Amino acid sequence: MRKIKLKHISVSALLAAMVFTLGGCAKREAMTIASPDGTLTLDLKVSPEGSLYYMVKHKGVAIVDSSHLGLKCKEFELGRTAEVKKVERSQTDETWQTVWGEESEIRNHYNEMRVELEEKEATPVSYALVFRIFDDGVGFRYEVQGQEALDSITVMDELTEFALAEDGVAWSIPWDHEYYEHLYTPSLVSRLDTVCSPLTVKLTDSCYVAIHEANLTDYAAMNLRVAEGTRLASWLTPWQSGEKVFSSAPMQTPWRTMIVTDSPGNLMLSRLMLNLNEPCAIEDTSWIEPQRYIGIWWAMHRKTHTWASGPQHGATTANTKRYIDFAAENGYGGVLVEGWNEGWDGDWTKEGEKFSFTKPYPDFDIEEITRYAASKGVRLIGHHETGGAAANYERQLDSAFAMCKRLGINSVKTGYVNRLLDNKELHSSQYGVRHYRKVIETAAKYNVMIDNHEPVMPTGLQRTYPNLMTQEGVRGCEYDAWSPDGGNPPEHTVTIPFTRCLAGPVDYTPGIFNYDNPVPPYTRPQCTLAKQLALALVLYSPLQMSADMIENYEGRPEFEFLKRCPTNWALTVIPEARIGEFLTVARKDRESEDWYIGAITNANSHNSKIKLDFLSPGVDYTAKVFADGKDADYKENPYAVDIYETPVDRDSTLDLTLANGGGAAVILTPVKPAAANNLTASNAK
Ligand code: NOJ
Ligand code: CA
Repeated sequence: MRKIKLKHISVSALLAAMVFTLGGCAKREAMTIASPDGTLTLDLKVSPEGSLYYMVKHKGVAIVDSSHLGLKCKEFELGRTAEVKKVERSQTDETWQTVWGEESEIRNHYNEMRVELEEKEATPVSYALVFRIFDDGVGFRYEVQGQEALDSITVMDELTEFALAEDGVAWSIPWDHEYYEHLYTPSLVSRLDTVCSPLTVKLTDSCYVAIHEANLTDYAAMNLRVAEGTRLASWLTPWQSGEKVFSSAPMQTPWRTMIVTDSPGNLMLSRLMLNLNEPCAIEDTSWIEPQRYIGIWWAMHRKTHTWASGPQHGATTANTKRYIDFAAENGYGGVLVEGWNEGWDGDWTKEGEKFSFTKPYPDFDIEEITRYAASKGVRLIGHHETGGAAANYERQLDSAFAMCKRLGINSVKTGYVNRLLDNKELHSSQYGVRHYRKVIETAAKYNVMIDNHEPVMPTGLQRTYPNLMTQEGVRGCEYDAWSPDGGNPPEHTVTIPFTRCLAGPVDYTPGIFNYDNPVPPYTRPQCTLAKQLALALVLYSPLQMSADMIENYEGRPEFEFLKRCPTNWALTVIPEARIGEFLTVARKDRESEDWYIGAITNANSHNSKIKLDFLSPGVDYTAKVFADGKDADYKENPYAVDIYETPVDRDSTLDLTLANGGGAAVILTPVKPAAANNLTASNAK
């Protein structure tokens, strides 16, 4: 049994802790902190009146100009009459092991400046601003200390600003009720409306910034609006009554984060989000299993089957057994079945209260199905669509997860299709944040992994709760079944790796092989089949769905890539990247010496020359390539895929031509030494 999988393997924390006690006049001095290699610096300033401002420089150039810090609460306001009491500095350099992810090990290397302050209110308020500066970004948060005469805290507004030094191009989605299911559009920062984070901005050709938050705990999600020019201001999702956060002292806000890198590929490789979350809170993680899954799903979105019981019901015992057989034959760990439980009849998006999470429909024999699945080494993946009725779900949480545990169901996809939770509160409000956390923690008690659809935007919590496997919060593949605009345009999937995916794993559900669609307006994937393969690697999810109906995979040679592509990696590298244009990702399998590559482009073809210098020295590999075939084109000829093998090593360059809307997927396997080959051949006889 694996115990405490997540542990520090080297710690040299707190190398130097220097404490300065400042007198009243010192508050006007700048307090500066630099990242370990000096790439980033941050200055904190206090105005004579006691207003707080910070600035950030990247390689000596200002990227965030003087920006206000503050928190407006009913009981007090921070950042208006502040006086610095103490400044503490420390350094941390540690490496920790991930339970699953894009790397086995993550280095957490930063300098910290903790500034203790007092706000000169009628009753003074003590608090701290904590800054952590990494070579690839910055995190800071407010910590209000427990103190006499301060019980409840009601946050009315957060006054944190990000005054960007350039009117760069920002890729954003609007803030609204649609749980982030939008296409990202590029615009100048100064033209932004209220938008969600992560907000990715190209400030200059050699400076990219992504603003977001880490460790969103019992608080409201942060969104961004333009206060003036390129000065962005945080805007917290409110309760229906207008307040932002109800809390009590002591209170910590989530980390406000900025990933800052010189290239878009390095944005993707930053692990700042995870480093700013707490270590794993689950002692025994042996039951957490990253895996590929299939599901009774696409047929409902194409309306050939129904979620509700009836003549076209998808979730029948016989159909599920067919999927279990296919999963067992092809190495898939789980079968998701939607529409298995009572509550889908009528307009379930309006009447989510009806959902039962313990009562299967009569034509879904859950006891027999889970027995059959276990006999084949496969698990049923549960589905808890709540229709946004969070309270109804909370009432059933324990009984629902207890049933999962009894039946060997160790992962559940949750869903919240409704503009409001419980017909009143926004998904990204403190109400929603509290609900989602309750689900993750209760699921962990019953050893259940979670795949959360219609979530609040991820903030790196999977470090603390590695049973929070993946989340939607994206305009995913479901839009390729029914969206009136024809489906996700080719640039969408070359944009989300640099925006939504910086927040955490994404359950986009790629892998559609059959583009015929019986349902008007005949929407379909707007990419080639080779790109569908590549997406399974590029869009990281530790639970990765192959989303098509299984009959569309049978006998298809391209399927080999989907069924082999791992979901847990030792290492990730980004050979080339341009936001909205093209992207190549290479990842090393955690369980073998194999490497996998996914390359994708937008509506324009792209010649990808991939240097394989990340491969091990002295090892010969066979590259199995699944690339766009001759004349492939996402509109006219999406299915043409060439499959071939070629010998390569770390001095090789793969030269791949991606079609319009196309892609390529590659498996690189070390060639066994001749002696081992002979042995295998003679054993086989
Ligand atoms: C929306 C989810 O994103 C989708 O995957 C699911 O099939 C439906 N809701 C029904 O729960
Ligand atoms: Ca959805």
